[in-house]
Amino acid sequence: MCGIYGYIGQEDASGIITEGLRRLEYRGYDSAGIAVHNGKTIEIRKRQGRIDSGLSKLLDQSPANGKVGIGHTRWATHGDPSDDNSHPHLDASGRIAVVHNGIIENFDRLKKTLMEAGHEFQSATDSEVLAHLIGSHYTPPAEGQEGDVVDLKNAIVTALREVIGTYGVSVVCTDHPDVIIGARRGSPLIIGVGDGEHFLTSDANAVVAHTKQVVFLNDYDVVTMHSDRFTVSNMGTGTASFQISQIEFDDEAAEKGEFNHFMLKEIFEQPQTVRNALRGRVDSEASTAIFGGLNLTPSELRSIDRIVITACGTSWHAGLVGEYLIEELSHIPVEVEYASEFRYRNAPIDKGTLLIAITQSGETADTLAALREAKRRGQTALALCNVVGSSIAREADGGIYLHAGPEIGVASTKAFTSQVTVLTLFALFMGRIRVLSAQQGSEIIKALEAVPDQIEWLLQTHKQIREIAKKYSEATNFFFLGRHINFPVALEGALKLKEISYIHAEGYPAAEMKHGPIALIDSSTPSIVLATDGALYDKIISNQEVVQARKGPVIAIATEGDHTIEGKADEVIFVPKTHELIYPLLSSIPLQLLAYYIAVERGCDVDKPRNLAKSVTVE
Ligand code: AGP
Repeated sequence: MCGIYGYIGQEDASGIITEGLRRLEYRGYDSAGIAVHNGKTIEIRKRQGRIDSGLSKLLDQSPANGKVGIGHTRWATHGDPSDDNSHPHLDASGRIAVVHNGIIENFDRLKKTLMEAGHEFQSATDSEVLAHLIGSHYTPPAEGQEGDVVDLKNAIVTALREVIGTYGVSVVCTDHPDVIIGARRGSPLIIGVGDGEHFLTSDANAVVAHTKQVVFLNDYDVVTMHSDRFTVSNMGTGTASFQISQIEFDDEAAEKGEFNHFMLKEIFEQPQTVRNALRGRVDSEASTAIFGGLNLTPSELRSIDRIVITACGTSWHAGLVGEYLIEELSHIPVEVEYASEFRYRNAPIDKGTLLIAITQSGETADTLAALREAKRRGQTALALCNVVGSSIAREADGGIYLHAGPEIGVASTKAFTSQVTVLTLFALFMGRIRVLSAQQGSEIIKALEAVPDQIEWLLQTHKQIREIAKKYSEATNFFFLGRHINFPVALEGALKLKEISYIHAEGYPAAEMKHGPIALIDSSTPSIVLATDGALYDKIISNQEVVQARKGPVIAIATEGDHTIEGKADEVIFVPKTHELIYPLLSSIPLQLLAYYIAVERGCDVDKPRNLAKSVTVE
């Protein structure tokens, strides 16, 4: 996915847009560019690479002055990262500049038609085709005449009607120095409402420094934005109502502060973010949880006889933890599906099936599509989401917000523990409707409420983990092994390591190793073994010994006070003792820190790992 930005007001557009793009850079960092209307023409500055080493240096050498402009930071889909493939793109006349986030699926056919009409292209991107398509429908005003912005808007709408695919798009035009036009379908676009100035952005965290008043645009909305006013219309209905929302976090929430990386900051925020996830949702009296946004009656909740959880990546791992929790506490059968697979399966769905979409960003294309498919088939769909006003949050029938604040690091950390916290509360809630006793419910609540302080304690072990990371940072393969509710944590630990240190790592159910993967174990292949106490402790220790018998180094995550394991593992990282079902909230912390410190040791770009983007809004 990419980040798009627009500014119209009284200030220097270049500076504001470039700073806004820096806030959006986590969405894609292959290249960046801006288009600024200088009162007469549109000036384009764009460069491959990160903003600081590319666009920013280019603007220092060759400033672009104006009070209206758009910008883009790119995650390459069509066309490799290069100056030519960077946005903004111009139409054939050079009067119209476009930035686009999304995928135009029928761009080949559109490009062919345009080329037959004489259009020549500078890039390999689908987005440039959109710029030319808009230009092909636009009639500029006669020489010396004032243009009517409706002509520009109609050209954009006509072009977008020909597009198959997704877009968040912003457009400026030489004939209209006082307007930016934006539109969305399938990719987020938000208006920042200022005083005498307005903003367009892919993510609210890029405008919060200027305003907390935002409008979350809906699919098919088109905004015509001036410095002192804006109108929203809908390509389907012609009119569009909108509401101004208040951003709930402050500007510094989107800053690194004293941390070297957003990821480390977000790891250390987890005591607070788990508290945020718990806040107002624990009913100690009734030993259950409280949710304000499920939008399901008690009888509807009681009639749920199957739950399908759908998500991607880390959120999918959280869903797997949720499977153990919900089945254990409520006895409701749960299946967890990759959203990218679920949306194309002909999965049996009946009226008692509840779909839960789990997503940090609320914009993941596969998860959004899975949710839409479930709703199309008449199924009730909830969303566990971190971003207020995001597409998935708004299209779900109800849901639970994580309240974790902006997660900027590409590797998800605080969102994972917030998702697991919310899933624990949800499992408690559903269990107490069915089979869970008040005593059992109280035990879960007691363990949950201790978690923030226990994470605080755990974070103090970061120096020990950094030393272990240094010792194993040269390894080229890792295994992460866990059983029962710690198995998804093993998967999550492997993903964290893979995505920021580029080391191959596999998460596995520990007992599965003897069915093949043990062949890969040797003295150069460390295994991280989740060996916290519980019913399967002896079995996980046996699995660990099988690894060690093949000279495989073992880093054990164990329960504080377990001295048995100290003689068995090469390294031991202790976590505080807790309820067996609550360990994922604790055992995931050292795995996050281990991945972080190994990546730092290897000189990797922790917050912006190669080839990745924070939210994958393309299929
Ligand atoms: C996690 O570290 C990754 N960045 C990625 O797997 C992520 O969890 C996945 O893309 C899902 O994103 P979402 O939670 O915003 O839907």
